[in-house]
Amino acid sequence: MKKKLPIAVFVSGRGTNLQSIIDAIEKGKLDAEIKLVVSNRKKAYALERCKKHGIPYKVIPSKKFPNEEEWGKALIEAVKESGASLVVLAGFMKIVPTNFIKAFENRIINIHPSLLPAFKGLDAQKQAFDYGVTLTGCTVHLVIPELDSGPVIAQAVVPVLPNDTPQTLAARILEHEHRIYPQVIQWFAEDRIKVEGNKVTVLGAKYGTLPFNPQLEVF
Ligand code: GRF
Repeated sequence: MKKKLPIAVFVSGRGTNLQSIIDAIEKGKLDAEIKLVVSNRKKAYALERCKKHGIPYKVIPSKKFPNEEEWGKALIEAVKESGASLVVLAGFMKIVPTNFIKAFENRIINIHPSLLPAFKGLDAQKQAFDYGVTLTGCTVHLVIPELDSGPVIAQAVVPVLPNDTPQTLAARILEHEHRIYPQVIQWFAEDRIKVEGNKVTVLGAKYGTLPFNPQLEVF
């Protein structure tokens, strides 16, 4: 049997990216095992998905802790205890504490619904729509203390169409999120991600990490 990458997934909301990871694992396309899902909100719909698929989860809300550092320590402990070696932020709507980021340097990834470094922060799809760009997309990147920054691993480009609304655009971007996030995790599982400064190389990938996804091999 193939070795599986142990991962922890952090969520706050509906969890469609979590679902895309679960589906890719269940289809045998992704050699990973979700050891733990962490939510900062006990009402996150993502937790229903955990129950349905028998995935262990913990609710660790920041407001239960006196400060960010203590919250960070609780998150570190939970991930260490789970045995996960990669932390996947999938719609985690809180800024991750600095001590947590230091504890898992280059082992935390995030997905953001824009072509970073454009349109950081909340409502990135609407920011792109309002700006009037014709191309936007999504980005998977390593997490550093600065919000929505950190070395880019993969991007998918999505067109803005004439009759789009922020909602139709967000839905089109989401389809690509669900494709590139499992792919990036699979690259980690295959130990193919090399980080040098701000540059990420996917070892053995034909086209590096260019947009339009020519490098996407499985998904
Ligand atoms: C996604 O758009 C993701 O890019 C952003 O938060 C959203 C999470 O959606 N970081 P979901 O909870 O995975 O459905």
